[in-house]
Amino acid sequence: MKDVYTLADLSSREILNEGAEIPARIAVLGNPVTHSLSPQLHQPALDEAGKNVRYIRLELEPGSLQQAVDAMKALDFVGANVTVPHKFEALECSTDVERNAKAIGAVNTLVFDGDETLGFNTDGPGFVNAIREEFLVDLKDLRVLILGAGGGAGQAIATQCAIEGCEKLILANRTKSKVDELAARLQPYFSGERLEGPGDRIETSDFDPSALIEASDHVDLIVNTTSVGLKRTDPSPFPASGLQPHHLVYDTIYNPARTRLLADAANHGARIANGLSLLLHQGVLSFERWFPGERPLETMRTALKKTQG
Ligand code: ATR
Repeated sequence: MKDVYTLADLSSREILNEGAEIPARIAVLGNPVTHSLSPQLHQPALDEAGKNVRYIRLELEPGSLQQAVDAMKALDFVGANVTVPHKFEALECSTDVERNAKAIGAVNTLVFDGDETLGFNTDGPGFVNAIREEFLVDLKDLRVLILGAGGGAGQAIATQCAIEGCEKLILANRTKSKVDELAARLQPYFSGERLEGPGDRIETSDFDPSALIEASDHVDLIVNTTSVGLKRTDPSPFPASGLQPHHLVYDTIYNPARTRLLADAANHGARIANGLSLLLHQGVLSFERWFPGERPLETMRTALKKTQG
């Protein structure tokens, strides 16, 4: 049994099954994929539900997703999770794409159904559930500032905020041109009147400290989707002096569990949460796509806790 499989391993069932009692029938596709927690999240749920399915990591080169999908279908796989950098290629490989994934422009869950490859995105809906669980509020009732809205994760969360019809959405990104395009694309979701006047509900922001502080004056929820914080020595992507006790601060990073941003936010009396709940909820929703009606939330929550030592 290997920690990480490759495209070559999909050439036969015998290779794939070597050393394992349970046949590999779901994979997380990524590059790199060694550190993905998805197997630890899904395997206990698969075992508990008696599925006789092993969840594996599969490392793929960009451009080889279609080949892998064809091979997995031939080997009677149930489906796959897709992570960086293959989420856009996964959209291309899908024969049918759910509306939500189409709007986000990325697929993180594939379901193999006969000849069809169905594409879904559970990152956006998973974020909605994570915010509800962490802060006991609905995304639609919040004014939201997204740091790094031009990146892959940021675009998914920004699009979901738009789909939910949140009160207000401010998109901040170091490379501003990326969020100018995104704001234009999401503008139609904000055409109705809410508390803010029409036209004011979606904005972009520069990434300098004074612009971010000004933006944060008008929001309830601040979400970090930049990669700043992944390294323990990283600074915060947001100036501490802009943090206020009424803010809800969500960092999509979960390792380290408490980034500089979250530590600053807690020091300023804000409520904080890290990306583990997003990982959990997107996982539960993927599982439900493979096995309709099954939502192993508590099993996965326990499994995830174990990975955190
Ligand atoms: P992805 O594959 O999701 O696009 P990425 O390239 O690592 O991931 O970037 C994620 C986000 O982190 C982007 O919004 C990126 O900003 P740019 O679009 O300007 O590249 C943001 N990011 C990365 N390093 C940053 C830094 N030092 N300061 C601010 N934002 C940063």
